[in-house]
Amino acid sequence: MAVYAPRIPGPARLVVLVSGSGSNLQALLDATADTAYGAEVVAVVADRDGILGLERAEKAGVPTHVVAVKAYEDRAAWDAALTDTVAAYQPDLVVSAGFMKIVGPVFLARFEGRTVNTHPALLPSFPGAHGVRDALAYGAKVTGCTVHFVDAGVDTGPIIAQGVVAVEDGDDADGGDALHERIKTVERSLLVDIVGRLAREGYRIEGRKVRLGS
Ligand code: GAR
Repeated sequence: MAVYAPRIPGPARLVVLVSGSGSNLQALLDATADTAYGAEVVAVVADRDGILGLERAEKAGVPTHVVAVKAYEDRAAWDAALTDTVAAYQPDLVVSAGFMKIVGPVFLARFEGRTVNTHPALLPSFPGAHGVRDALAYGAKVTGCTVHFVDAGVDTGPIIAQGVVAVEDGDDADGGDALHERIKTVERSLLVDIVGRLAREGYRIEGRKVRLGS
């Protein structure tokens, strides 16, 4: 069982992991501008260079790091480097916000129970890298997003909250881009809400159940 009590005094320390445009990161950065939110982004770590997510962090004055798989001898070395990079910031919570890599055993040994991921589908349906496209191809009538704790599986960890988005008839036309944008609108506010509540209220994870409040 993992338990977290709010950091008193002071805001919870967040490290955010990104791989792309970082609109979820931006939503968190915007929320943390208000001290009442109860959390601050202390670093942003990416698995690749040249992404908008890193630009957003730099613009906000947040330290950034790139830990690319290809810079390491193997996946285990990457896992250790990612863990060390994140650990240097002593985060209370790690937020995987569009981070398109599966973290390894060293990372989990250190941060399982403190790492939150957001996924663009209603888990356990459509896990993996193509949650939006897969829901659309399956013919689902509703999909959405899931904020969950990360475990050793692919999008299998305890669910914290979900948001529902209707699939519309025209969504096949652009391969799911418009659907993904509608999901991301819901996802950003859900992620901001949940991360803030985890930070302010604390939580416990009992098996698959996540209980907010300390
Ligand atoms: C989000 O929709 C997130 O759920 C998804 O990537 C997008 C990132 O958007 N993550 C995954 O698909 C992970 N399997 P953003 O870079 O604009 O925040």
